[in-house]
Amino acid sequence: MTNVAIVYFSGYGHTAKQAEAVRAGAAKKAAATLYAIDKEGNLPESAMEAISKADAVIYGSPTYMGGPAWQFKKFADASSKLWFNQALKNKVAAGFTNSASTNGDKFATIAYSWTLAQQHGQVWVGTGLLPANRKDSNPDDVNWSAGFGGALAISPSDASPEEAPRKGDLETARLLGERVAEIAAKLV
Ligand SMILES: Cc1cc2nc3c(=O)[nH]c(=O)nc-3n(C[C@H](O)[C@H](O)[C@H](O)COP(=O)(O)O)c2cc1C
Repeated sequence: MTNVAIVYFSGYGHTAKQAEAVRAGAAKKAAATLYAIDKEGNLPESAMEAISKADAVIYGSPTYMGGPAWQFKKFADASSKLWFNQALKNKVAAGFTNSASTNGDKFATIAYSWTLAQQHGQVWVGTGLLPANRKDSNPDDVNWSAGFGGALAISPSDASPEEAPRKGDLETARLLGERVAEIAAKLV
């Protein structure tokens, strides 16, 4: 069975909810496992080896100060161990991010994950979703944030993780996970 790893950081629980939606989508077509980076930027002991064996790796971080959280960057630097033996080469990659503002420079975080994936020689998969950009579009719609390079989510600054990301952003995340699993299955 295809094996999808979702590695992410979440400071306050909103991006964790998005990550769970990505996992649920991937789990429709593959074995899908969440690897949460902790507040010190570390993964559980055996996680890096498990990630190295996955067929696809999906990267997630909240957008903090216009880029990934430092804890995610610490993971990225630690992943250089996999780079040395090209463990992720030709494997599928994708990314997601969540932040408070409608834009908030989320794309800088996606671009960072794309760069990390390219360093590892991975094959990037975007959302493949049309944007919900009409007058009557709203946060319940799929791809309301119009992410093509990766799944984007908006968690308003006064919203708890129970309230946000909202329905459309969670469905967008779910669809990204499913798409990655589908494409990874074709490549293994
Ligand atoms: C240090 C810090 C920096 C932030 N920078 C941004 C930002 O650049 N753009 C934005 O839209 N939101 C920004 N936010 C808001 C977070 O992205 C938002 O609260 C998000 O839901 C947090 O996700 P989490 O609960 O997974 O940590 C920032 C929050 C923090 C704590």
